[in-house]
Order: sequence, then structure tokens, then C-alpha cells
Amino acid sequence: MASSKLSPSLIFLQIIFLVFNSANAQLRVGFYKDTCPKAEAIVKKVMDQVMKVAPSLSGPLLRMHFHDCFVRGCDGSVLLNSSTGQAEKDSPPNLSLRGYQVIDRVKTALEKECPGVVSCADIMAIVARDVTVATMGPFWEVETGRRDGRVSNFSEPLTNLPPFFANISQLISMFRSKGLSVKDLVVLSGGHTIGTSHCSSFSSRLYNSTGKDGTDPTLDSEYIEKLKNKCKVGDQTTLVEMDPGSVRTFDNSYYTLVAKRRGLFQSDAALLDNEETKAYVKLQSASTYRSTFFKDFGVSMINMGRVEVLTGKAGEIRKVCSKVN
Ligand code: HEM
Repeated sequence: MASSKLSPSLIFLQIIFLVFNSANAQLRVGFYKDTCPKAEAIVKKVMDQVMKVAPSLSGPLLRMHFHDCFVRGCDGSVLLNSSTGQAEKDSPPNLSLRGYQVIDRVKTALEKECPGVVSCADIMAIVARDVTVATMGPFWEVETGRRDGRVSNFSEPLTNLPPFFANISQLISMFRSKGLSVKDLVVLSGGHTIGTSHCSSFSSRLYNSTGKDGTDPTLDSEYIEKLKNKCKVGDQTTLVEMDPGSVRTFDNSYYTLVAKRRGLFQSDAALLDNEETKAYVKLQSASTYRSTFFKDFGVSMINMGRVEVLTGKAGEIRKVCSKVN
């Protein structure tokens, strides 16, 4: 309606502005160098304190950045509250996310130092890197300059986040739709080297699949027995280590497990169903502790951190991460 009143020259000027604006408003390392020089040091200080008392939050906080980026881009929309239970965080794939209070704590510290400057979306990206380092994983320079979105919908995580039962073609196409490659898929899946899962995310592989007694024939049978001891039919609450023995250490043992058919989710096992992902799993499973996986993970996290970001004048810098200004 309104645009029909705009003159052609005004429309032309708007297009020029948009092109100019988007070309200049990109993420970059050191975005807060002048506006909040201590930003990353402040995040690290808070994260050091948090990791000391609650190291089990490393997994949830790494996962949170992924769940943010895949729904409306890395715009902090996963953090928004809804009084009617209609936000992303109320949606089934996000009900097992934890650690929102840590992001709030970091935000409070940053608001004290430089009010209204550092976005919640950037905080999550830096926190994801810091928890990776805290679990002895790789360091990478985090690009910053993201702005916070104002919209969060219950339905969008369901259609944008790959489910645990995704097969390889679904995984590839869901990553592709975010501009991420097959390599990013197999590398980022390595994030499952830390953290825990609820039985309900894989119990169909123990009790309701196509193999003997309802088990999943692609899951190692000895491992099935171990998992059955932990997860009885219908268990919704028990947490299981995804990378048993090194759940709090970021290493490449995830790939050793997947190669041995001990990846916990169908989506983990699916990495053996494509030549490229399978080759990567095999390569990393045969590698030593500090493998190329570390370097690859940093590169793929940077790629994921660029997904559909709001920059320049788009969005806002929230004062409180759980609500729009
Ligand atoms: C490839 C598609 C992916 C699928 C289908 C998937 C699925 C899941 C599921 C079902 C859980 C367990 C949730 C629960 O039951 O509590 C989980 C946990 C986790 N995921 Fe993924 N994930 C994927 C990719 C990623 C990526 C890209 C990352 C980060 C780079 C990531 C990091 C994590 C972490 C760290 C946990 C542990 C969370 C905790 O300790 O609470 N995942 N994932």
C-alpha cells in the first residue's frame, strides 16, 4: 500500500541504500574494539566463574548457539520469552536447552561496562567458543557485529532444526538451506563430543526400530544393552552421556564412537551413509587427540555464526536478552 506512493527515484535511492548498507555491515573480528574493548574479556571472566561451579552447562551452551543460528539466523531469538508460551524456547526441540541464566549473567556484566552495545546474539557466539575452550577444545576468533531480532515463533524450531531421527539427505538439505556444507555438517556434529542427552532422544533405537526385539540394526548391539540398562521404556528424564568417559572433554572421540556404530542418535549414525561424511568420520576416528577436527570445528563454527545474521541497522541491541526493547 505505502510503496505505491513512492516515486521511482525514491525506490532507486532505497535500493542503493540497502545494497550499500548490507555490503558494509558485515560481521568482523574485533567489532567491539572501540565501543566495548573489554567485551570478550568480560564474557570470559563470567564464563570462567560459571564453568568452575557448573561445568555441565558447557554442552547446553554450545548447543544453544546452534539452536539460535538455525532459526531466523543467529539473532538471539531463542532467548526471547513469551507470556503465552509461543516463543522458540517453548517449542519441543528447545525444551531441553539449559543455561539461559548464564547468558543473562554475561549480559548484566556487559551492560554495566558498556550499556546497549553488545548484542545477545554475539554473547551466545562468544560463549559457545568459550565453553569449547573450557572443555579443552579449540579456540577460534569469533566474528561479532550481530544484532538481535525481535521475533520468536513456536513453530519455527520444528521446521528448521534437524530432528534426532533425520536421515543423511534430510541433514544435508537442512544444513544446505542455511548455507552450510556437507563438511560443516559432519564437523559440527562433532559438537556431540560434549554433553548429555535425554533417553527420549534415542529410545526408539532401543525399543521401537526395525531390528531384533525392536532394536536399531545400525546401533552396536552391546551398546544397545548398556543403553537399555540406563533407559527403560518411556523414560523421559534420565540423562545419558553422549560421549561416555569424556563427556566434559572436547576431543575427536565422537568420531571413534560413530565409526564403531555407537553414535547415540540416528542423525549421528546417518553420517556413515554418505561417502563424504563417512570418509571424515573414518579419518577423525583414526586421528590422534589434537586432530584436524579442532581446526575444522573453528572454521565451521564461524560459518554457522554467519547464518542469516542481522547487521548494520537491522534489529536492535536488547537491554535484557529475554525481551525486546
Ligand atoms: C546435525 C544435526 C543435529 C541433531 C539432529 C542434533 C540433535 C541433538 C539432540 C537430540 C540432543 C540431545 C537433546 C536432549 O535429549 O537433551 C543434542 C544434544 C547436543 N547437541 Fe546436537 N544435534 C545436531 C547438531 C548439533 C550441532 C551443530 C551442535 C553444535 C555445534 C550440537 C551440539 C550439541 C550439544 C553440545 C549437545 C549436548 C547438550 C547438553 O548437554 O544438554 N548439536 N543434539
